[in-house]
Amino acid sequence: MSKRPKDKTVGPWAEQKLDSLHRGLHYWTTYLKNMPYWQKVYVDAFAGPGLSEVRRRPKDTKAVEPSGLLDLFADELPPAAVDPIAEEVRYLKGSPRIALDLPNPFHRYIFIEKDPGRLADLKALQTEYAGSRDIEIVPGDANSALLALLGSGFSKKTHRAYIFLDPFGIQVPWKTIEALAATKAIEVMINFPMGMAIRRMMPRTGDVPPGWGISLDTFFGTPDWRDHAYEEVTDLGGTRTAKFADSEVRLLEWYRSRLQAAFGFVSRAQLITNTRGGHLYYLIWAGPRVEGLKGADYILTMKPTGTSGRKPMLL
Ligand SMILES: C[S@@+](CC[C@H](N)C(=O)[O-])C[C@H]1O[C@@H](n2cnc3c(N)ncnc32)[C@H](O)[C@@H]1O
Repeated sequence: MSKRPKDKTVGPWAEQKLDSLHRGLHYWTTYLKNMPYWQKVYVDAFAGPGLSEVRRRPKDTKAVEPSGLLDLFADELPPAAVDPIAEEVRYLKGSPRIALDLPNPFHRYIFIEKDPGRLADLKALQTEYAGSRDIEIVPGDANSALLALLGSGFSKKTHRAYIFLDPFGIQVPWKTIEALAATKAIEVMINFPMGMAIRRMMPRTGDVPPGWGISLDTFFGTPDWRDHAYEEVTDLGGTRTAKFADSEVRLLEWYRSRLQAAFGFVSRAQLITNTRGGHLYYLIWAGPRVEGLKGADYILTMKPTGTSGRKPMLL
């Protein structure tokens, strides 16, 4: 399969995600602005290019409908034919730019990205904001970079951080989540990739290929996900494994309960859908402060206004 070149386009649903992130960061930075004793750090662990072009229609159906391993990660999909006339160019600030433009800035910004093309865009962003924002660009895998950050003098006494974990799939293993939670100084906004990866890796029959099973064990930190996805059903044909009709809700609630146990507080989840209502992923906040929870719950459960969703915050 030929790989699609890494592009800078996003589906229109990215706006819902970025709007919630923007509100969450604004809330966090406003709340902490009069607490100068901590160095405030923003980490975008899957940073992307910083500025994206919004597609007017879904680029391909495979990215949103379960069909197999090859399309686990939308990023690896081949290009779909694009009618240039039907496309209208509209740009959206990516998560790094949203964080950089906050009225109450962080002391330090760390952007982690493994794609060379997107790293080049982030370097340009660093140049654009030179003198006004302290930006560090870290090439490579988010998990190694996060663990390195925690080992480089990050401490509850001196630091507070907000970390955005926005992968395409199940690239954030539970051991990374545990390490972040253990600091008691970090709040996270997590993309829980139910439709983008998890659902596709759990076939109805329960015949999860061994490699996927290992990846899911690593992601959830335990093989217990099977108990939340599958049941044994006995009928005339005998006993067989079947997927719970509500496996998505069960897995989500179980993951949330694990986040709560690790961090102390976990928000309700905001479902992000594609233009046809298909479930893509959930945004979940977790952190050590009840005040953070109040803000996150308010933001992630806001009702849409009008037909085009809730009004975005002014950027
Ligand atoms: C969903 S996009 C991020 C979009 C960005 N957060 C935004 O909202 O503007 C995921 C990004 O993670 C990068 N990526 C994928 N796997 C990674 C890894 N293991 N470590 C760091 N970056 C990774 C991809 O190249 C891609 O740019």
